[in-house]
Amino acid sequence: MAKEKSAIFIIFGGSGDLAHRKLYPALYRLYKAGILKDHFAVIGTARRPWSDDYFRETVVTSLEDLDDDKQKMEDFAKHFFYQSHNVNDSEHYIALKELAAKLDDQFEAGHNRVYYMAIAPRFFGTVAEHINSEGLKTEDGFNRLVIEKPFGRDLASASELNDDLSKAFPENEIYRIDHYLGKKMIQEIPNIRLKNPKFEKALNNKYVSNIQVTLGESLGVEDRGGYYETAGVLRDMVQNHIMQIIGSIAMDTPEELTAKAIHKVKTDLFSSLDVLEPEEVNKSFVRGQYDTDRLGKLNAYRDEDNVDDNSNIETYAAGKLEFNDERWSGVPFYVRSGKRMPAKSSRIDIVFNDKVSEFGVNPNTTVSLLIEPEEGHSILVNGIDYQSSNQDLIKFPEDKTYFDNAREAYESLIIDILSGDRVHFTLWDELQSTWKYIDVIREKWDSEDTDFPNYLSGTMGPEAADTLLERDGNSWVWDD
Ligand code: BG6
Repeated sequence: MAKEKSAIFIIFGGSGDLAHRKLYPALYRLYKAGILKDHFAVIGTARRPWSDDYFRETVVTSLEDLDDDKQKMEDFAKHFFYQSHNVNDSEHYIALKELAAKLDDQFEAGHNRVYYMAIAPRFFGTVAEHINSEGLKTEDGFNRLVIEKPFGRDLASASELNDDLSKAFPENEIYRIDHYLGKKMIQEIPNIRLKNPKFEKALNNKYVSNIQVTLGESLGVEDRGGYYETAGVLRDMVQNHIMQIIGSIAMDTPEELTAKAIHKVKTDLFSSLDVLEPEEVNKSFVRGQYDTDRLGKLNAYRDEDNVDDNSNIETYAAGKLEFNDERWSGVPFYVRSGKRMPAKSSRIDIVFNDKVSEFGVNPNTTVSLLIEPEEGHSILVNGIDYQSSNQDLIKFPEDKTYFDNAREAYESLIIDILSGDRVHFTLWDELQSTWKYIDVIREKWDSEDTDFPNYLSGTMGPEAADTLLERDGNSWVWDD
């Protein structure tokens, strides 16, 4: 039976979309699993003047797709409290502190606090500063600050934010969320590598021809046009999720599977990223923006709400990254992510060269780790399930149901936060290297006009993304 955890959660942005779509359902699943039980409370804060009762109703509504046990949902909602809050008003933090202390006594929450930033990023620094200056942090429990992405919009703003946060919280109390690190397949990569010595031995430039990371989405920007105009897929998916996925598969073998050892090899890997010169950007990266679909039914990106009619923001990017470390030098890492692709597909394809036959497998074998196709997680060898592939490069797990019933990403990350395990969170050193890499591309793209839109909704993106690989004699493994 899972061990019960105790804490008072203070959710800044408690009335918002992220909280209702991701956090409350995740907390409820933990409640049903007994990980949260009697000794927790959630304070939602936001500007709107809601009552506790109204807040609880919204919480229950956010759970409706998960369960029909009305009583359980209502019992859960009794742990929720609302406090109207202006992030700049010191008095409000004092009221929050008093409410947290009162609820801590009532629920015996062990003086533990989770401060969760589900608000607009421009408030992250201010809120952290006030938590510290108004004395919200407790003496004899834990105090953990959880930050949602985006963590800055370039290296300069990320550094500024980090400086602000570190005045209030030491690095080991900061949990920077990248929800891809909560996904089961990504979490299992170190374990898969450990359990498959041949695969691990072949993961380097002697045996690997290229590695491909695809985060394809079939949806468009939906109602997030305003945000997307400030981000583009480069900031939205490449700087964080794609980089972290590459980190898991390409990091050196850690000495042990601890947060410290894993973060060390990841940080080393990112610091060996070969940052492009501005004149190399358009040779190594391709950008795209979706048009309507073949039937002319869907909105082109430029016709979405809150999007500029002449927007040059990219909804698709593909690129070739290289590392200049001993393990990977000479191996291209092809990455791509796009909205309105033919299907939702998050995957890593590792294409081996002919030398891999030394391990008794076919030359040019491809191992695909499917993170999240609609049908679930799986591992393919040359396109077929690894268990029926008759190849023993990769054999883990033995049990076909292993990836079934995996915890949802947020649920798993919240358990880590409550347990003080930072292995699945991003460190400042990693972010610095990845922003440095992305900044060059962003600056180059922002300085040049484009010929957008350049791909139809429901297609694989601009043709130039294929040419990018063809020039090296390679091709994308996932192709519609
Ligand atoms: C988010 C991005 O971080 O990840 C979204 O902001 C994107 O634009 C989403 O749709 C994809 O996540 P998932 O888990 O649905 O693959």
